[in-house]
Amino acid sequence: MSSPEYFRVEYSINPWMIEGVEVNLELAKDQWSGLKATIEKCGAEVKVIPGNTVYPDLVFTANSGIINDKHVLISNFKFHERQGEEVIYENWFKKNGYEVGRIPSEHKFEGRGDAFVYGEFLVGSYGIRSDKEALLFIADEFELTPKIAKLVDEKFYHLDTCFQKLPTKTNDAIFYPDAFEDNSLTEFSDLFNLIPVSKNDANKLACNSVVINDSVIFPSNEIEVIDKVAELGCNIEIANVSEFLKSGGACQCLVITLQ
Ligand code: ARG
Repeated sequence: MSSPEYFRVEYSINPWMIEGVEVNLELAKDQWSGLKATIEKCGAEVKVIPGNTVYPDLVFTANSGIINDKHVLISNFKFHERQGEEVIYENWFKKNGYEVGRIPSEHKFEGRGDAFVYGEFLVGSYGIRSDKEALLFIADEFELTPKIAKLVDEKFYHLDTCFQKLPTKTNDAIFYPDAFEDNSLTEFSDLFNLIPVSKNDANKLACNSVVINDSVIFPSNEIEVIDKVAELGCNIEIANVSEFLKSGGACQCLVITLQ
């Protein structure tokens, strides 16, 4: 995670961000600490990279890159507002013992926001922030089979805003159907038992939940799909991160899983 002391909404690069909207920083810090404590309670250790006054979105560490064992490929941010984060993350990963690589700079890619490693597969999405070519490059580099879908709704601009795999033995995943191009989910349906969430849930960023062991940490207790996820045997936790939704991010955006 990255500490939130410089978090604010000062530009708009997704439909959630209203330029100049006021963020209650004290509340944001409390919510961030609440998420961190919940993650620790679920059994994970949290490492914290300091915030940076120039980069308010550095708090969304999911976008730092994609990790496979001790190998990381750093993001190539689409918008110049975030491009300066790349070197900050690159240095952190180098210092912390990772082998760090880059994707050719002409291919945009935004890390765990748009892709993750799942067994021998690279599950990813493209179309809004990341390019298909970047996903194919990563699959090749990590020797994984690409399973890729196309995003079509600007409001759900990263895969982690509209899809999350659950910690069940039946490979369940929650997703928001309207975020994906028609038919582009066939690659995912080979791998996952897909459970649709409502528009209401999608707008609360229900899919931007964090999975740790058998726990799923949701950003609000008003999410309808929670009952179903509980029935599947997952332990449910809530970490309200409403201040961060003003920037288009919830629980999953605020973390990246290290190996
Ligand atoms: N304001 C940030 C942006 O638009 C939010 C990033 C959320 N991250 C995520 N993994 N979905 O870039």
